Amino acid sequence: MTLIIAGSPRKGRYSDRIAEEVQKEAGGEIIYARNLDVKPCTACSWCKGKGDGHCVQQDDMAVVLDKVRQAGTIVLVSPIYWWQVTGTMKLVIDRLYALNGSDWEGKKLAVIMNGEAEADDREYALLRDQFKEMADYVNMEYSFLGVGTPEGDEESFMKVLGKVRDFALNLR
Ligand SMILES: Cc1cc2nc3c(=O)[nH]c(=O)nc-3n(C[C@H](O)[C@H](O)[C@H](O)COP(=O)(O)O)c2cc1C
Repeated sequence: MTLIIAGSPRKGRYSDRIAEEVQKEAGGEIIYARNLDVKPCTACSWCKGKGDGHCVQQDDMAVVLDKVRQAGTIVLVSPIYWWQVTGTMKLVIDRLYALNGSDWEGKKLAVIMNGEAEADDREYALLRDQFKEMADYVNMEYSFLGVGTPEGDEESFMKVLGKVRDFALNLR
C-alpha cells in the first residue's frame, strides 16, 4: 500500500494536486497533514522504551503511525517553505521517530518538493540530499522529485504534473 502524506497548509493548491496525481498513478491513500491534530515530538523517548514503537501522546499521530507501519511506500509531498518542508509536514516527520527500526524495513521513501523556484535551483538538490540521509538512516529505498511552479502559472503546472506522473509510475 502507498501512503501519501501531503504537507501543505493550503487546501486544494499545487501540493494537494500533486498528491492527488500521485494517487491516480500509484494508488493508495492521501493524508492531509493540515487536518491532523499532531503535537510536536517532545523527545521523551517513551517510544524507545515502554512505548515500543508507539507514542505516549494521544493525538492523530497514532493513526498515522499505524498507516506508516502498514504501508510499503511512503510519499511525502510538501511545498518548500524557506528551503525546507512546511512546519505542518515537519511535525509529522518528527513524530515518525516513534517507530522501531524494524517498522521501516523493506519500505520505500519518495519525496516530492514543490516550490516557486525553477527545478534546477540549488534548493531542490539540498532537499534531495537531506532526505537521502534520512532514508539511508532507516534503510529505505529512496527517490526524489523537485518541481517548481511560479504562483498562478497553470501552464507550467501542467508540465509539472507530467513529471509527477512519470515519477509516480515508478512507485507502483
Ligand atoms: C512561507 C513561505 C515560504 C516559501 N519559501 C519558498 C522557498 O524557500 N523556495 C521556493 O521555491 N518557494 C518558496 N515558497 C513558495 C511555495 O513553495 C510555493 O508557492 C508552493 O507551490 C506552495 O505550495 P501550495 O500551492 O501547495 O501551497 C514559499 C512560500 C511560503 C508561503
